[in-house]
Amino acid sequence: MFSKVETVGRDLLWKLTEDYKNDSRDVKLDLILGVYKDQNGNTPVMSSVKKAELDLVNNQMSKVYRPLTGNSEFNKEIKKLVLGTNSHYLHQSVAVQTVGGTGALRMLADMIYWSRPNATVWVSKPGYVNHEPIMRAAGLNVKYYPWIENNNQLDLGAFTDAIGSAKKRDIILIQGCCHNPTGIDPTQYQWDEISELFTSLKVIPLIDIAYQGLGNGIDEDAKGLRTLVDALDVCLISTSCSKNMSMYCDRVGAAIITSKDNSQLNNISSMMEQIARRAYSMPPEHGAAVALSLMQEPRHWLEELNEIRNRILHIRSLINLEFEKKPLLNNFMSIKNHNGMFSMLPISQENTQRLKIEQGVYCTNEGRINISGLTNSDVTIFVNALENILLSSEH
Ligand SMILES: Cc1ncc(COP(=O)(O)O)c(C=O)c1O
Repeated sequence: MFSKVETVGRDLLWKLTEDYKNDSRDVKLDLILGVYKDQNGNTPVMSSVKKAELDLVNNQMSKVYRPLTGNSEFNKEIKKLVLGTNSHYLHQSVAVQTVGGTGALRMLADMIYWSRPNATVWVSKPGYVNHEPIMRAAGLNVKYYPWIENNNQLDLGAFTDAIGSAKKRDIILIQGCCHNPTGIDPTQYQWDEISELFTSLKVIPLIDIAYQGLGNGIDEDAKGLRTLVDALDVCLISTSCSKNMSMYCDRVGAAIITSKDNSQLNNISSMMEQIARRAYSMPPEHGAAVALSLMQEPRHWLEELNEIRNRILHIRSLINLEFEKKPLLNNFMSIKNHNGMFSMLPISQENTQRLKIEQGVYCTNEGRINISGLTNSDVTIFVNALENILLSSEH
């Protein structure tokens, strides 16, 4: 039955990780995957999560099936986290618990296809590697807009030029914060411009906010998203608890749709239920119940999230201090303006290969680095490795 199917190559990131593991050098750096690492290079379970898990195990009375839309209390709380505790869109929106942020993206893609099978979704280039495959797998057309820097900020002109040719009701998939892979986020002024542009073009935003809290804070990171929600009639939102609760393998996320026309909410809800029913019926309860208790009593969790954010900021500032000392690396210094775990090194693919082969520094082929993959003492090793590569490619 499957003999005629073309073999699909191994996932590139996992292949790189394997290369890293098989590298026998004593000094090597793993900056590949999008997973937070602490000062010891580990990704521990947060202690707030551990505590909530123990409470859950001790108090759970039944594992009977849950609703198709998942844990309804979780859905209420995740809306508050994303839209704001006092947002009046809490009553003009629907949320469904999903299998991670990926599940949310697929749920929304299926809803778009169901409503308009010929719809086009615009994704950023460079962008999150899974956006395009998820949209295409749902049957949607994909176009691209650039996400690049000009004077250490998002090049809004290049973005606007591309999006200017979008048609009414095209979907623009935009990341809410901590852009993967570039770390370039719009300023508030730019978010205002983007929301005016979207409003005038009558396009629909699909906002992926997978890293809320890892940039500047829970509410700060959602400012751009909330600007769009205020301005536009309908917003599609995908969110994830993988990163900000370090619950990667528990697969907790949510798809949220805001609509200023309340009469659409029932329809949206029933579409979501039917999509869930035919894909997996109901999402897993464990992670959502844990995330719910973190959101209901957030103090301990937010302290731990602050630690994560501060470590990332600290490593960024150390990198920048090292860059300042090296004239050859001066044009790398926009790294300090980036948000979240990622930045992209402005070097050629050939040089990312050389970083790996000659210096033992592993980043993705496009040059994305995970800042948290560096410990304090790794920073000089990393910066020296970059300098070595650039020095030798100058000759
Ligand atoms: C931008 C972006 N969106 C969505 C996801 C998917 O998140 P999850 O692991 O919760 O499925 C990721 C994961 O790396 C991501 O970087």
